[in-house]
Amino acid sequence: MRDLKMYQQLHAMPAEDVIETLDEFSFHWTNDARILDIGCGDGSVTMDIWQSHAPKNFKKIIGIDKSQLCVDFATQHYRSERVQFLRLDIEEELQKELEGSFDHVVSSYTFHWVHLQETAFSNVHKLLVKGGSCLLIFLGYFKPYENYRTLSRLEKWSADLKDVETKFVSPYHDSQDPQNEIIELMQRVGFKNIKVKLHQKTFDYASVQDFTNMMKCLNPFEGLTDKWHDFMDDYVKLDPKAGNISYQLLVVNGTK
Ligand SMILES: C[S@@+](CC[C@H](N)C(=O)[O-])C[C@H]1O[C@@H](n2cnc3c(N)ncnc32)[C@H](O)[C@@H]1O
Repeated sequence: MRDLKMYQQLHAMPAEDVIETLDEFSFHWTNDARILDIGCGDGSVTMDIWQSHAPKNFKKIIGIDKSQLCVDFATQHYRSERVQFLRLDIEEELQKELEGSFDHVVSSYTFHWVHLQETAFSNVHKLLVKGGSCLLIFLGYFKPYENYRTLSRLEKWSADLKDVETKFVSPYHDSQDPQNEIIELMQRVGFKNIKVKLHQKTFDYASVQDFTNMMKCLNPFEGLTDKWHDFMDDYVKLDPKAGNISYQLLVVNGTK
């Protein structure tokens, strides 16, 4: 992610989804919990939402992100005695000392960017203590992915968007049955008491400009950085209602 200050201003969609999920879902927190937040980004959702829903006497919250920029920003703004941020990629091999050291692993708006799903889910399982649980919130179908795909087929954008499937589109965007796919995957890596909910949702950005600014914060394609306005002009021509988003939200829970 880039421009983390802008992300903080425009992150209503993930923030509302995490709040709604926690309000609806009776997630059983452990007292004294040790909590890991995967893909903490700027750190604000870790602090403002996950921390405020965790038991008051939580032992520690560690936010991890594969981006050093995010870890530095979150550390600078939110580090405290019980809250720390570390650079860690959930798709890579885990350090042994982290295994079995968390009561809860949570994550919002990150697992749709995870290409190696089985490695990541297996790492979540390894990070948990026996009896520990995860709550992962991420996107399945997301209308903008469709538009990025369409643009990636145009000669003008094909080189810049050549990694659109592996760097951007959720592994569940095309899935006919994402719930069962995730349940089977979680069973394979050893999870129990698995629940996967799918919500059909919409979100309206206040303006197309807010939407394009948000996409700029999330843009993983280096080649587009200097051509952003031209790219977004083409995007909005393709989808004049760019700020009205339909999407599927996946809410995933399981225990070790
Ligand atoms: C859209 S942000 C979500 C930030 C925050 N959780 C929220 O809900 O607002 C997704 C974050 O996940 C991080 N990320 C993506 N893939 C990751 C991985 N494999 N391991 C750790 N972090 C990852 C990105 O660097 C980015 O900061």
